[in-house]
Amino acid sequence: MTTQEITKVQELIYTTRVETVMATNVVVVDPSMTMGEVKRLMQEKRISGAPVMRGDTMVGIVSMTDVLDVTEQGLLGDPVTRHMTREVKTILKDSSVLEAVSNLDRQGFARLPVVDQNGRLVGIVTTGTMIRALLREMDISFQKKEAEKLQSYRARHIFQDIVSDDTSVILRFVVAEKDFDNAGKAASAIKKSLQRLGVIPSIVRRVAVAVYEAEMNLVIHTDVGGVITVDVRSRRIKINAVDHGPGIEDVVKVLQPGYSTAPEWIRDMGFGAGMGLANIKRCADVMKLLSGPGSGTRLDIEFLLDNDGSGGRMDASKKT
Ligand SMILES: Nc1ncnc2c1ncn2[C@@H]1O[C@H](COP(=O)(O)OP(=O)(O)O)[C@@H](O)[C@H]1O
Ligand SMILES: [Mg+2]
Repeated sequence: MTTQEITKVQELIYTTRVETVMATNVVVVDPSMTMGEVKRLMQEKRISGAPVMRGDTMVGIVSMTDVLDVTEQGLLGDPVTRHMTREVKTILKDSSVLEAVSNLDRQGFARLPVVDQNGRLVGIVTTGTMIRALLREMDISFQKKEAEKLQSYRARHIFQDIVSDDTSVILRFVVAEKDFDNAGKAASAIKKSLQRLGVIPSIVRRVAVAVYEAEMNLVIHTDVGGVITVDVRSRRIKINAVDHGPGIEDVVKVLQPGYSTAPEWIRDMGFGAGMGLANIKRCADVMKLLSGPGSGTRLDIEFLLDNDGSGGRMDASKKT
């Protein structure tokens, strides 16, 4: 099976939450305002759109385009409620940036109000806020990498320092069902550990994306969560995600890109695009999905550390 490179940016887009890339100082418009007042507010605050809020309830969204339209028609005295868009597409703060990107892109929205699980407005995301935040994240991750070089140097010798026929490092993570606040934590801990063990970045990125998707499936689709186990050896990484139900009816069907049984409320939160297992397959060298209705599900994935001659193995003495 051929695997594709996952770039740093792609990885960030998958694993960063909307919460991290939104602007929190949201300028809002009161329904009592006129379009003229909205225009002045937008110019003053240098923004190109704003949610219209009646107290805590979002009743619409108004953009610079609306303002320009009414300016042309000489209707700046009209109430904002006459010209705002009433059907507002929002995004949940725990969604991935990928979800925000595809909504901003495909649906042609220039901005998405961000809400928490109670539907309360907590921020706003635009292409601009996303780009700034992603650049900042990349900068931080670069600095962290520099700082961690020493630690990584120490840990990567484990496979040489410990003498045995086959050394293995086991990492285990318990993932709770429907716990969206902690979703993604196992994936990021695994990523950090693999970096310290000296696994090359291109493989760490593939593992990070695959584990993130596996973790999300435990969060979204299981009754009582599950366990992710990572077994790192000098030449390969084996990972399994195991849960006790409800299981999968048709393991061939669920591998199809776009197939999802995620309920409406999960989709409303920005998950359940049906791309998870397809992504895992794309990232891993080997993938096996075992399940049946009523029983649990077991996902096995494997990454080979020296299959491409790129020096992915952690055995530092054997340079390529
Ligand atoms: N651990 C699991 N337990 C039960 N069903 C699962 C599990 N993992 C995946 N599935 C099923 O496979 C489908 C496809 O999964 P995936 O490709 O990750 O897409 P999504 O999670 O967006 O629905 C899910 O909608 C669900 O029906
Ligand atoms: Mg999934």
